[in-house]
Amino acid sequence: MNTLEIIKTRRSTRKFKPNAIESEDLNQIIEAGRYAPSGGNSQTSHFIVIQNKEVLDQLAQLVCQEFAKMEIVEGMYKSMASSIYQSKNGNYRFHYNAPCLIVMFNQESYSNNIADVSCCLENMMIMASAKDLGSVWINQLKWLNENPVIVDYLSQFGVEKGEKVYGALALGYPDTEDGKPNRTPLPRTGNKVTFVS
Ligand SMILES: Cc1cc2nc3c(=O)[nH]c(=O)nc-3n(C[C@H](O)[C@H](O)[C@H](O)COP(=O)(O)O)c2cc1C
Repeated sequence: MNTLEIIKTRRSTRKFKPNAIESEDLNQIIEAGRYAPSGGNSQTSHFIVIQNKEVLDQLAQLVCQEFAKMEIVEGMYKSMASSIYQSKNGNYRFHYNAPCLIVMFNQESYSNNIADVSCCLENMMIMASAKDLGSVWINQLKWLNENPVIVDYLSQFGVEKGEKVYGALALGYPDTEDGKPNRTPLPRTGNKVTFVS
């Protein structure tokens, strides 16, 4: 596939096989993320790669526990309301049980923190797609990046001074019949383009 085809057929995967990702594939996906551009070439994004099932299960349990304490309010972003709703029912798995979660940290004091992390995440999603791996952006840890329980739990995994979560990526082999990700492009009805003549 050429680059545009890979980009257009990248779709989010939300059902994963439990198998660990081949380390060569994982390393190349991370490398693609690390080669993303950064504001002023800052390169302050920090990739914390979690593949330990016990850690992922514990983190998912804590995320569910902390969302369950929150209230759904009118006008709330619908994905956040859905996370709270599912958590109150006690069955929320924010990372869709993916075998790998790459949590993206950056400096809280740096004005391009989210932009830089977003470039890393997109590079990794494109690279994963090129390798027939499934991935999906995970925002829940960013929403909880001031929650003391989650911050405390993540702090044991090498988080550095001044860093906060600004996004995450769930990654793994898609749980589909042929093992390949869905590649049906979503039609573009928004993302307007205006050419200036
Ligand atoms: C900033 C951002 C945050 C997102 N957060 C989540 C999320 O927390 N959980 C999730 O399942 N999908 C998340 N997504 C994936 C979008 O829902 C998905 O990209 C969109 O519905 C289009 O579908 P596609 O990725 O299959 O093209 C996020 C995407 C972006 C760009």
